[in-house]
Amino acid sequence: MATILLAGGAGYIGSHTAVELLDSGYDVIIADNFANSSPEAVRRIEKITGKNVKLYELDIKDADKLAEVFAENKIDAVIHFAGLKAVGESVEKPVMYYRNNIDTTLSLLENMSRFGVKNIIFSSSATVYGEENKVPYTEEMKRGVCTNPYGWTKVMMEQIFEDAAKADKELSVVLLRYFNPIGAHESGMIGEDPQGIPNNLMPYVSQVAVGRRECLTIFGNDYPTHDGTCTRDYIHVVDLAKGHVKAIDYILSHNGVEIFNLGTGTPYSVTEIVDTFEKVNGIKVNHVYGARRAGDLAECYANADKALKVLGWKTEKTLEDMCRDSWNWQKNNPNGYNK
Ligand code: NAD
Ligand code: WQD
Repeated sequence: MATILLAGGAGYIGSHTAVELLDSGYDVIIADNFANSSPEAVRRIEKITGKNVKLYELDIKDADKLAEVFAENKIDAVIHFAGLKAVGESVEKPVMYYRNNIDTTLSLLENMSRFGVKNIIFSSSATVYGEENKVPYTEEMKRGVCTNPYGWTKVMMEQIFEDAAKADKELSVVLLRYFNPIGAHESGMIGEDPQGIPNNLMPYVSQVAVGRRECLTIFGNDYPTHDGTCTRDYIHVVDLAKGHVKAIDYILSHNGVEIFNLGTGTPYSVTEIVDTFEKVNGIKVNHVYGARRAGDLAECYANADKALKVLGWKTEKTLEDMCRDSWNWQKNNPNGYNK
């Protein structure tokens, strides 16, 4: 069976993808500097699957150190999750974001070229559709104008991959544009563990529910949506992880660049998320309505037809599953991986 290198594989999406790949019979190597994750996540991946994961603690930007991973293993494909992802922080520290996100990409591509590895899947984002495109987003739409440096790193990296594949006809690239991943593995052993105050909605909701934060502020209730709060395409992280397994199956037998949206195609509002979380878990989430957050779009959701048609992938989990599993992870691990 093929061996897959997960760059940034100890993180939220990488850890869930590792479990699905191992369960599908792939061998997994993780390289991570734990900038936003914990080695405990890797131990738990092994516990869930009963399989071993080869772990390298290193900064992917360091191309020479990374070369050791390629030299010591026969790698069939790479999945590149290694990036900084906090939108607000990227506005404060743009140079750090450009340096980390772009250098990790270049370092991976250089080593792949040096060691003859031809397959890479990249964690892109719905953010590349920018402000101009109309929902639902389809893959052939032009990349848009982003509102923050994080988004621009994704736009730039998609361009880098397209140029690299143009120059090397044997290179196979899959750009996966994730929508809003939430939820956790049903075991409650791995999940999203943001450091500091969460930027994203679901970790904030769960931390209020568990008593770590006082109150959720819902950013704006005067948007042109059915209840005035923003709508998003929330996707269960296990469905998302399974999309990576399908993309690996695909990439091993195709060349060139393909882009896939990974979303459900169904938007839900912030209020619907809070209400569903409260209902399925039987717990109150204190919340107030506040001002809009700068840079937020009223709506964002996918047309996910291409992933179904080409990869045979579609989501299976419901919003109730997402809310139940997020809470199961949070209540079993109130302080994340740092017990
Ligand atoms: P995460 O922060 O949990 O995982 C990223 C991992 O990369 C972490 O383990 C971190 O330690 C590691 N990392 C970062 N820089 C590194 C470096 N220089 N060297 C080695 N390791 C490094 O984030 P996630 O939610 O799992 O996201 C994974 C990828 O998906 C990211 O590229 C992110 O931008 C992208 N993405 C995430 C979302 C989302 O909402 N979670 C949406 C769209 C795209
Ligand atoms: C969701 C909704 C907020 C927090 C971001 C990135 C995007 C992608 C996914 C990586 C919005 C509202 C949130 C809170 C709230 N990441 N909200 N109170 O902004 O859709 O997408 O993560 O690529 O690029 O921009 O996700 O979870 O931050 O917000 O009311 O305390 O929840 O306004 O409507 P977003 P989010």
